[in-house]
Amino acid sequence: MNDESSTIEDHVEGLEHAARRLSRAACVVVVTGAGASAESGIPTFRDTMQSLWKEFDPQKLATPEAFDANPEVVTRWYDHRRLGCLAAQPNPGHGALATLEQHLADRGGEFALFTQNVDRLHQRAGSRRVYELHGSILEWRCASTGHVITPPPTPFEAFPPPSPFQPGALLRPNVVWFGEALPEEALRAAWEVTPRCDVFLTVGTSSQVYPAAGFVDIASQAGAFTIEVNKDPTPASRRVDVVLRGTVGRVLPLLVSRAFGPGVDGQG
Ligand SMILES: NC(=O)c1ccc[n+]([C@@H]2O[C@H](COP(=O)([O-])OP(=O)(O)OC[C@H]3O[C@@H](n4cnc5c(N)ncnc54)[C@H](O)[C@@H]3O)[C@@H](O)[C@H]2O)c1
Repeated sequence: MNDESSTIEDHVEGLEHAARRLSRAACVVVVTGAGASAESGIPTFRDTMQSLWKEFDPQKLATPEAFDANPEVVTRWYDHRRLGCLAAQPNPGHGALATLEQHLADRGGEFALFTQNVDRLHQRAGSRRVYELHGSILEWRCASTGHVITPPPTPFEAFPPPSPFQPGALLRPNVVWFGEALPEEALRAAWEVTPRCDVFLTVGTSSQVYPAAGFVDIASQAGAFTIEVNKDPTPASRRVDVVLRGTVGRVLPLLVSRAFGPGVDGQG
């Protein structure tokens, strides 16, 4: 099932196997990355490198040092992305994860979703137990006092935006930049629930950014059945039990409907 060029249609067997395991699971943990929102029109970092902002390398802009050196460019880039996230809609992959959580809740099971995405689309699709490992681009905070605000769905009036909390201070997006610590509560939850899950899904992530890239190994070493959903191979592909090669918006609804019955992918 680890064939690197195949698609979901070539691997009905892997899909059935994964669905059987999912249908029996009492606890499911999911980690998602930028690929989960790609079909909502939000570019992954790789896509960003081919866009209007292609001359801006996220690895260089998403740092406290970049904000200190050039707050105008950094806040303009983040505000452009913030407005894109607000305009986007959840896709069928987001919907399938919300449905999966509901199925587990209906039978007294447990579900936890750890996302590296900052777009809030999982919550808008109905997912409830969501941990934002990298914060949210929809919230901004005072870079000096830490007070958090949710700006209106229009661009800021000035760049860099001034903080309303302290004269002379600036607002920054409430996201985790390279070199910054991840939210403690989310990490604590991950270390607690991942070793207990029966099925672990890694979805639309390049599996290169730690610690999220390591969750699949924690789950696997503790005996969970592991599934990757990604359109391309990643470093995790060879370490999981089943690779479902295809887009998140296509594969996840199929998987959840195979596991729990008709309705999710509209195909009965
Ligand atoms: N939507 C967002 O919030 C967003 C967008 C861009 C970047 N980021 C940030 O980028 C960092 C990069 O890590 P990452 O692993 O999340 O993203 P990444 O951009 O490094 O990798 C995206 C992964 O998704 C896969 N993919 C792309 N489209 C897909 C689709 N339709 N279906 C299935 N798979 C698909 C790619 O093959 C790749 O493996 C994260 O820290 C995240 O915070 C977030």
